[in-house]
Amino acid sequence: MTGCIPKELDGRYVRNGANPISGTSAHPFLGDGMVHALRLRDGKADWYRNRYIKTPFITDTSLNGLDPSVMMKMESSKANTHVVGHAGKILALEEGHFPYSLDGEINTIGPTDFDGALKGSFTAHPKICPLTGEMLAFGYSLFEPHLRYLRVSASGELVQTETITVGGPTMMHDFNVTENYVIFMDLPAVFDMQLAMSGDMPIRWDDDYPARLGVMPRTGSDSDINWFEINPCYIFHPMNSYEEEGRIVLDVARYDHIWRESTMDFPSPVLWRLTIDTASGTVHEQQIDDMPAEFPRVADLVVGQKHRYGYMVSLSNNDNPDDLVNASSSILKYDCNTGQKHELDLGRGCVGGEPVFVQSENFRNEDDGYLMTYVFDAKANASRFVIMDAATMDNTPVASIELPRIPNGFHGSWIPTSVAG
Ligand SMILES: [Fe+2]
Repeated sequence: MTGCIPKELDGRYVRNGANPISGTSAHPFLGDGMVHALRLRDGKADWYRNRYIKTPFITDTSLNGLDPSVMMKMESSKANTHVVGHAGKILALEEGHFPYSLDGEINTIGPTDFDGALKGSFTAHPKICPLTGEMLAFGYSLFEPHLRYLRVSASGELVQTETITVGGPTMMHDFNVTENYVIFMDLPAVFDMQLAMSGDMPIRWDDDYPARLGVMPRTGSDSDINWFEINPCYIFHPMNSYEEEGRIVLDVARYDHIWRESTMDFPSPVLWRLTIDTASGTVHEQQIDDMPAEFPRVADLVVGQKHRYGYMVSLSNNDNPDDLVNASSSILKYDCNTGQKHELDLGRGCVGGEPVFVQSENFRNEDDGYLMTYVFDAKANASRFVIMDAATMDNTPVASIELPRIPNGFHGSWIPTSVAG
């Protein structure tokens, strides 16, 4: 280890990802969920451990997740996309099925349906409101109803479920919240039965499907939604959204399209700002940067509130995905007030993941805190966990802990001991 782990950090950094137990999967999104976690306390790392989420696919490796008879069961989750802490629980999430609960040692407890209240899928990207403690979510489906809105109370009960009308079986990976609204993204990546029958990922781009944003009061229902048409695009991940002077601002990682040629067709995403003028019914769409980047995050305390700072990881500047030694990436920090971008270079051959912001104990400014991620070093064939200073964006980590190779993954969270002991 180099540097010092700040004593104020008491909790777990947990990151999920798709690690196929058989060694291969039909698509990078379809591997089995494995969480990689570090327990930090009193300036020390108590442990690092990784665990498969004990889904049906781990106990019976012959199961095919694309087989409709398997896919339709809400327990048949790969649980591979995200992991969050809410209301004393740690939930491993994937967007087509029930969440899986984990204990504090990241062992699987089992699937959860919120005491029978959840009747369908639950997104991998719920939003936890820093003001109310509610967890706002949704679930999409290939079958009717194609979309449900889900509101979970601060104490963990699923208290509201609303059926939402969308243009068809759209793949809705994420959504947006503000202080008073949720914003659904009804975009042209849709379910395709022919692909499903061929055993491929059953989603494709549809040039005839209108792209829309739907704004609904947080306690509202389908009839309260105002829809706003936007230019065709796909958004896996918003950075954050907020209300300002009658407008709703969405900062997002925007793709021109996805999966038009195949389900490996991923153009480069870049940061855009979409501003919905609710009075005039128009949406102003502005490209903010031209550097390919993904996995946008803000401080948990500003989710749904106006943010000044957003963080992303730049994608490798090497076009050859097999040439890992010459790949590299940076952690990016966007300052919305000044328009400046800080770039924290992780070094040649070193690729980082989603930067998770953790506020410091005595924070005064929004960026007083740390950025955490795993970094894979191809030359060393090993990984490290880094804690960076988000305010200074200094290239020297506050702390860096050497680890065995950790496969690249998707999303993670800092889960303080106060949230899930
Ligand atoms: Fe995601």
